[in-house]
Amino acid sequence: MTVDVERDVVLTVNGVPHEVTVPVRRLLSDALRHDLGLTGTHVGCEHGVCGACTVLVDGRPMRSCLMLAVQAAGSEIQTVEGLATDDGQGGQKLHPVQEAFRECHALQCGFCTPGFLMTIKAGLEDRDRSAEITEEEVDEIVGGNLCRCTGYANIKKAVRHAAATMQDGDR
Ligand code: FES
Ligand code: FES
Repeated sequence: MTVDVERDVVLTVNGVPHEVTVPVRRLLSDALRHDLGLTGTHVGCEHGVCGACTVLVDGRPMRSCLMLAVQAAGSEIQTVEGLATDDGQGGQKLHPVQEAFRECHALQCGFCTPGFLMTIKAGLEDRDRSAEITEEEVDEIVGGNLCRCTGYANIKKAVRHAAATMQDGDR
């Protein structure tokens, strides 16, 4: 008896469908990085603790090291590579969360940054944007992601900065 251990799936990432053949046990994080070459998604702990591998699946933050690639077939996946948009002048416009990280010096080595960016984007889109963000909300949004470098103060500052920008209507 032969065991079918691979599947043909379509992974739609940042709006682009990709047809890939993956082992059924391939993690979404590995499929993104190794099959699709999207290495912006980082892998740290590989067991759901650090949040570095966070991507959005149908708009919700998911730890891609805890999800199988085959489970993501049929969903819209967004990675850090899809955050910036075309500025219409041949360049790119950073997402407000990326801009806030730049403004607030919210990264050092940058290893954790893609996971924070995706987590914060989802958290800020999920809240009532007309209200000023509270410290409790900031802690809630970033509390599940680990950073070994920054001490979190500037990351939290960036969340407040991005929340204010998004409150003013920028994405
Ligand atoms: S690599 Fe996925 S949570 Fe750490
Ligand atoms: S900036 Fe280095 S781990 Fe967060």
